[in-house]
Amino acid sequence: MRDSRETFVNHAFVTGYPVKHSRSPLIHGYWLKQLGLEGSYRAHEVAPEDFPTFIASLRSGQSGFIGGNVTIPHKETAYALADRPDELSTELGASNTLWVEGGVVHATNTDGYGFTANLDERSVGWDRCDTAIVLGAGGASRAVIQAVRDRGVKTIHVVNRTQARAQELAERFGPAVHAQPMQALPEVMLDAGLFINTTSLGMDGSEAPDIDFTVMRPGSVVTDIVYVPLKTPILQQAEAQGHRIVDGLGMLLHQAAPGFEKWFGKRPEVDATLRQIIIDDM
Ligand code: ATR
Repeated sequence: MRDSRETFVNHAFVTGYPVKHSRSPLIHGYWLKQLGLEGSYRAHEVAPEDFPTFIASLRSGQSGFIGGNVTIPHKETAYALADRPDELSTELGASNTLWVEGGVVHATNTDGYGFTANLDERSVGWDRCDTAIVLGAGGASRAVIQAVRDRGVKTIHVVNRTQARAQELAERFGPAVHAQPMQALPEVMLDAGLFINTTSLGMDGSEAPDIDFTVMRPGSVVTDIVYVPLKTPILQQAEAQGHRIVDGLGMLLHQAAPGFEKWFGKRPEVDATLRQIIIDDM
């Protein structure tokens, strides 16, 4: 059967407020060119008060877009306004990818896929560990916790300065997830094979973190979801103390692939050229 998407030129967006800083147009522009597809992907800034109207225009077809990505601060509203959010988005209460089919706005969240696909590419076997640590309990940590749990890691310690936020995530994501105060970090690190930073620690003018990675087992993986700079203070420290590190840039690149396939009908590759394009833009 012929895919109807081949006969149309599709247009997709990334929306946020602000959205100027988004590197998504570079990623999708590269893939459109590489695959020789017509179509477009562009930044489309929408203020929070205009977001419901934007979703309505997407649904009606008036916007001219087939779908797109949603970033801060619209992920929760996108989930709430979508007609058919999938299970992943529903558990997270947030969506980053939308597409319209027959006047129905579908929503998913590909952040967790991006996170695990990056580790699969850069550190095969990472999911054989029994225990993982997620440092931070903000919006960005949620999809990561969900994805690591869904890959079968049995114990996930969410370590956060504000204990109540970690507790909320433990309740949301079930018995594998445990809330821990910062002081518990050295102790929970003893059993962990994976350490994930989701905070901006050491980068927003705060003091460089002093985490003793030597207590983790040799061969453990330390990763960050922040990718500017590529080697965050936490990754630098973990590397200096002998661990394998994986930077967060691949998460950004991989999370983009499922949306591209929905809108333009072809699954794109995350390759070294694309990685370099983003690094050159930093
Ligand atoms: P995002 O949605 O990008 O995750 P966020 O919701 O502001 O952003 O969350 C930032 C995370 O980094 C939180 O876990 C925050 O801890 P709190 O919940 O206690 O605020 C953490 N964080 C930021 N700066 C920190 C610092 N100096 N020390 C410890 N944790 C910090």
